[in-house]
Amino acid sequence: MVKVTYIAADGTETTVEGDEGSSVMHAAVAHDVDGIVGECGGSMMCATCHCYVDDAWISKTGERQHDEDDMLEGAASEVRANSRLSCQIKLTPAMDGLVVHMPEEQF
Ligand code: FES
Repeated sequence: MVKVTYIAADGTETTVEGDEGSSVMHAAVAHDVDGIVGECGGSMMCATCHCYVDDAWISKTGERQHDEDDMLEGAASEVRANSRLSCQIKLTPAMDGLVVHMPEEQF
């Protein structure tokens, strides 16, 4: 299991454990974490799984892909250098303890 902490825009922190190979989005949805919607189920069609990877973890999650850039153009909240579609971050053991921040809104 891989531990992930989600920090909401208001500072509320929620830590859950996700399966290795699952995504940051799926781990949030499976545990009813407010702030990650994942409307399209992870097929890169919605951008309601937008998150900001904590700076300390970018080297572990990697940079976002070009396809993510295209979808994030439609994101409801500001896109930053550390913006990712959380459905595209697959959990690995190296990400145990990962911290992501959630935008103010996903719609
Ligand atoms: S869940 Fe829809 S783009 Fe990530």
